[in-house]
Amino acid sequence: MSTVPNRPPSAETPRRRRLTPPDIAARKGATPLVCLTAYSAPMARLLDPHADMLLVGDSMGMVVYGLPSTLAVGLDTIIHHGRAVATAAEFACVIVDLPFGSYQESPQQAFRTAARVLAETGAAAVKLEGGQEMAETVAFLSARGVPVVGHVGLTPQAVNALGGFRARGRDSAEAEKVVADARAVAEAGAFCIVVEGTLESVAQAATAAVPVPTIGIGAAAECDGQVLVTEDMLGLSGPRVPRFVKRYADLGTQVEEAAARFAEEVRTRRFPGPEQLYRATRK
Ligand code: KIV
Repeated sequence: MSTVPNRPPSAETPRRRRLTPPDIAARKGATPLVCLTAYSAPMARLLDPHADMLLVGDSMGMVVYGLPSTLAVGLDTIIHHGRAVATAAEFACVIVDLPFGSYQESPQQAFRTAARVLAETGAAAVKLEGGQEMAETVAFLSARGVPVVGHVGLTPQAVNALGGFRARGRDSAEAEKVVADARAVAEAGAFCIVVEGTLESVAQAATAAVPVPTIGIGAAAECDGQVLVTEDMLGLSGPRVPRFVKRYADLGTQVEEAAARFAEEVRTRRFPGPEQLYRATRK
């Protein structure tokens, strides 16, 4: 197995220490924040020098475990992945999603879950979905030393209630609700807010309405940062991706080609070759 060493931060983004939630909060309106998902230590090492934030998202349910939604991702599972990422990352602020059902019941339940996540992973913050209805919980956590990232707009944990993964804010009531949700979680103490799957104008309005950075995904270029699911942007999540994904690499094709070459060489006994074998040295 080869390990890829962390490259030093580039001259454009000199960083000598890990970014903290207050560092992220201070970036409102400044150079856009770079956020990517990471679920494993090797991927975290590769992304860390380039990302301000690494999100251990419950999107892992779909991306890693092949499930139809994020709903079945359990707390122990996300803690295992969170620990791997937080241990591997040196510079980025690591954020772990609170899974569906692990925080919605009460602020107390949310605190117990968040405390486990922070203590057992070493991450700096948690993310939870929801707007006005979660404001009390965001305030409860924030007041007790748990940095919280909000998540409004298309909230995948509510896929059943929303009736699918379609973009939010197409009528004025829905648009106003997204902005009111962003305001509510910001006022409650969230240090930044993911705005997912909204009309561009709604994400722009939400960004203008809150004093903390917004991180867009399928949102607007005016957000204070952007996040993508890493496997989507690397071409590792199949041929069909949502419209908002830009593919920066086609690693899926490279993996297939490498697997085909390996298979061919094994079947024709060209692998392993002399370089891969241990042989007694002559005296
Ligand atoms: O779970 C996740 O990866 C997320 C991002 C898509 C924002 O919530």
